[in-house]
Amino acid sequence: MFDEGWGGVIAKTVSLDASKVINVTPRYARLRAGSNGAAKKDVIGWQNIELISDRPLETMLKEFKQLKKEYPDRILIASIMEEYNQTAWEELIDRVEQTGVVWSCLHYKREVEDMREKQSTQMEEEERKPLLKIPSKVLARRSDPLVNGLVNGVNWMPLEINFSCPHGMPERRMGVADGQDCKLLDEVCGWINAKATVPVWAKMTPNITDITEFGAIGFELASLVKPARVSLKSGCEGVSAINTIMSVMGIDLKTLHPEPCVEGYSTPGGYSYNAVRPIAFAKVMNIAQMIKSEFNDKDYSLSGIGGIETGYDAAEFILLGSNTVQVCTGVMVHGYGHVKTLCAELQDFMKQHNFSTIEDFRGHSFQYFTTHTVLSTTERESETTPFRIHST
Ligand SMILES: Cc1cc2nc3c(=O)[nH]c(=O)nc-3n(C[C@H](O)[C@H](O)[C@H](O)COP(=O)(O)O)c2cc1C
Repeated sequence: MFDEGWGGVIAKTVSLDASKVINVTPRYARLRAGSNGAAKKDVIGWQNIELISDRPLETMLKEFKQLKKEYPDRILIASIMEEYNQTAWEELIDRVEQTGVVWSCLHYKREVEDMREKQSTQMEEEERKPLLKIPSKVLARRSDPLVNGLVNGVNWMPLEINFSCPHGMPERRMGVADGQDCKLLDEVCGWINAKATVPVWAKMTPNITDITEFGAIGFELASLVKPARVSLKSGCEGVSAINTIMSVMGIDLKTLHPEPCVEGYSTPGGYSYNAVRPIAFAKVMNIAQMIKSEFNDKDYSLSGIGGIETGYDAAEFILLGSNTVQVCTGVMVHGYGHVKTLCAELQDFMKQHNFSTIEDFRGHSFQYFTTHTVLSTTERESETTPFRIHST
């Protein structure tokens, strides 16, 4: 992927004991345009019942190390997941950090600490106190102007925490079991952030229904806002959204068995690719608006995921507030080289609008969302004005 030109890679989620992870075959099913029985057209949706990595942690860590050696200037992010057990989380973070996956970040953090030390010795005692109180992990935050200078364009490597795998071992209180329960999430994020020396992103599950909370513009319904807020308040530097949506892909009308079919049986899985994009847009927009209104937008990062197939899809995620985007199924369908098309399309969009940086248009489209009440009032008012603009 690095050879093809991807800006970063988030590796398959790892846990301490891969022997507990048993993957089945087949574990994918495709939804094509055209109904069941009719002529099948393009793939529009994808379902997987794949668990996290079933390869030994040692093997994965060895490969991370090798990648870091071969591509020292590239971003490699480790995705991690563990049971509801503080010691297990701490051990996993420790082992991943030791591989050098996070070497650059620690390296730059040390440089920052040196700079801080120099800076603080030249300061008055009272001025120095707040600086010295800052926990070391915060030094790695992009918000920090010192760090900003160092990490801008270099190897800044967070951990991504998988709180979101929909079919992955919730009985072991892993993945979605944490992401769906704000109390658990708060506690587990607390353990992780106390241990990690690098920035942490919490990956959110869309499989929640929270109708108890309403956002500023009235449609924070069934959204990820609450867990995203909890993660950021518990010390995470960013969130990524969305993971796959819980789904049943369909029934084969000849055999009457569900898909994907393992010895005649199936289990609900995670839905991804083009069909989930509008749902991901809504979730990402809600989180972006919450970060903008409740946190210092510049201090936190939002990674938009779900159904990106073209560079124009990526542009839409950015217009809705994403700092970065991730592609998963799109790569499985089109191959690693697809990044070239994605970049060309995103650049084409930026050229059309004379945007030279992502920040030039990040969150630009927020301003065009409002409530339905405002829409209907605006429409009524425009009907009574003599110079109404008609769209054709
Ligand atoms: C086959 C497959 C395996 C996945 N494995 C993981 C995983 O190990 N960890 C994780 O956080 N997300 C995993 N995901 C979720 C994706 O990273 C992504 O959040 C989701 O598929 C939506 O994006 P997409 O439409 O670009 O695929 C997986 C998705 C697929 C399709």
